[in-house]
Amino acid sequence: MLIDDGEMQKLISAAVAARRQSYSPYSGYAVGAAVLASDGAIYAGCNVENAAYPLSFCAEANAIGNMIMGGGDGIVHVVVTGPNADICTPCGGCRQQIREFANAKNTPVTICDADGVIVLKTDIGALLPHSFGPENLNNAKSAK
Ligand code: THU
Repeated sequence: MLIDDGEMQKLISAAVAARRQSYSPYSGYAVGAAVLASDGAIYAGCNVENAAYPLSFCAEANAIGNMIMGGGDGIVHVVVTGPNADICTPCGGCRQQIREFANAKNTPVTICDADGVIVLKTDIGALLPHSFGPENLNNAKSAK
């Protein structure tokens, strides 16, 4: 689903603001993410690291957690913002998490720099082709 420029700017601003909240003292790599949900609301998240490194959470995962907690039930568009010098595409785990809740096979994923300038427009189908999702589990019990 395409969204208008005003909605896009709100989504980008939410991701940029989320990035400013990043707790990333170990990597120094601050990430912000925002999802527009099918209820029309925007949910944001930042990465939250931990001294026990594997316990860190990605920005996208936290945005999705906020969406679920807030009652949103599907992702219409995702924006991710990373450091200026880099195109911060979602990591593999985050692609799978986005895929779980994406409203469509080609739900847009827009990557911005730290200032909110768009550096890449892609979609979850391109980021995670031939993906495994909830539909794969349909009728799984009868197929043995
Ligand atoms: N990170 C994210 O928040 N999202 C991604 O998709 C890529 C990586 C975070 C995790 C870690 O806190 C830091 O960036 C460096 O990997």
